[in-house]
This record gives sequence, structure tokens and C-alpha cells, in this order.
Amino acid sequence: MTTSVLFVCLGNICRSPMAEAALRQECARAGKTMIIDSAGIRDWHTGNPPDDRAQAVAARYGAPIDHLSARPVRVADFRTFDHIIAMDNDNLSNLKSMAPSDGSAKLSLFLDLLEGRNGQDVIDPYYEADEAFETTWADVVAGAKALIAKLS
Ligand code: 4NP
Repeated sequence: MTTSVLFVCLGNICRSPMAEAALRQECARAGKTMIIDSAGIRDWHTGNPPDDRAQAVAARYGAPIDHLSARPVRVADFRTFDHIIAMDNDNLSNLKSMAPSDGSAKLSLFLDLLEGRNGQDVIDPYYEADEAFETTWADVVAGAKALIAKLS
């Protein structure tokens, strides 16, 4: 069975679509197939493309995300995805409280994938300067590589 992964952040317009794009790119490089999606805890940006600054960084690294469209996490996600990976600790606690009793998805924190970053948040770049999106990109690429290694 193909492994399925859902990345979750607050708005689904910065961190989680960047993580989605990074994992797609790293899977392509590694010759792996995964089902990959992203969603937000909140529905504020439903139907919107990722933030322009996230689009710019992802395009610069060859992983365009302009076609993506934000959506909120759905209860069904807990039954259909193998892994739901939160970009920060608040997202993870929200996911834990939303999870239905028959949910089968494994919930985890993104930076727990990286040695030395256990328990850390992928910092939300939304309210930050453009440079913060470079840091986010570096984090999501490192996490994507670690996830592929872990699932291989
Ligand atoms: P994200 O960032 O959770 O990485 O997509 C945010 C996007 C939008 C907002 C907050 C964080 N917002 O307040 O609209």
C-alpha cells in the first residue's frame, strides 16, 4: 500500500503547502511514491492559493505551489491518512482534540523527524519578513528527507 501523509499547519497557506511541495520533490528525487496532501486547522483561507511569499520560495527551489488550494482538516482525514504531521505544537494539540475515536492516522510533530529538533515548532513565517520563508523551506526540506528515510 502507498503511504499517505497529510501535513497540517494553522492556515494551510504557508508551512504545510511548503512541506507538501518539499516532500513531493524529495520523493521524485528518491524515486518514491507517496500520497501527499496538506490542510489547515482553521478554514480562514479555504480555496485560496498559498501565500505569495511561500509561492516565491517554493518556485525558486523548483517546487511550484501556485496550483494548491487551502482546505481545513476534516474528520475523515484521521481515517484515510496513515500519517498526519503537525507543523507546530499548537497544531498537534488541536489535531489530538479533533481526532475521532476510530481514527487510524498516526499523529506526530514535524520537527521530531530531525535529530536535535525534537519538540520544536516550524516557526510560522506568516507575520515575519520574507527571509523567514527561506528558513521554513530549509526546515521542510530537511524534514521531508528524514521522513523518506524513516518510511523506507
Ligand atoms: P500557516 O501560516 O499556518 O503556516 O499557513 C499562517 C497563515 C495565515 C494565518 C496565520 C498563520 N492567518 O492568521 O491568517
